[in-house]
Amino acid sequence: MKNCISVKEILITSTEIDKRVTEIANQITADYKDSSPLIIGVLKGAWIFMADMVRKIELDVDVDFICVSSYGGGTSTSGQITLLKDITTDCSGRDVIVVEDIIDSGTTLMYLREMLLERNAASVNIATLLSKPSRRVVDIDVKYIGFEVPDKFVVGYGMDYKERFRTLQDICVLKEEVYKKK
Ligand code: PRP
Repeated sequence: MKNCISVKEILITSTEIDKRVTEIANQITADYKDSSPLIIGVLKGAWIFMADMVRKIELDVDVDFICVSSYGGGTSTSGQITLLKDITTDCSGRDVIVVEDIIDSGTTLMYLREMLLERNAASVNIATLLSKPSRRVVDIDVKYIGFEVPDKFVVGYGMDYKERFRTLQDICVLKEEVYKKK
């Protein structure tokens, strides 16, 4: 496995991810059968989940991307959200699904949901591959959750540590010495 020397354990295998992504896509297909949602992926972490999921959704959807930063290269959120790249699609009147790789404190998604509602989106729901409920700071309603995970530093399937490990196929836990190194 790539970067295997840095990986402590595989938390979720690519097979388990694929099965769960299919289930969420099927649920979205059923829930939005009378709509044509705008699906917004949050860069960079959500890009692989987004790419896999939208191809399994059997609806006519529009896709766009937004990029925000809250971690600033560290292992926990700074709480300060910076909009690095905006969507180019008009979301007014649209049913929007925001796709995330992981919800930690919830501040990123709270910020994005409020921003999209201020822009008059008809509805805003959230699909996240992972959720760390023990880390939640703000109370946010998440309609689609792939997996609830413990408070471990996870990488792979789009998620990084200092831009490394995003292309691992499985979701992995890093060895502590990797991110605690001075
Ligand atoms: C991560 C993740 C979410 C956010 C979640 O992004 O992709 O966007 O943090 O944290 P929160 O719930 O505490 O707000 P990150 O800033 O690491 O950028 P990345 O997606 O480019 O890796």
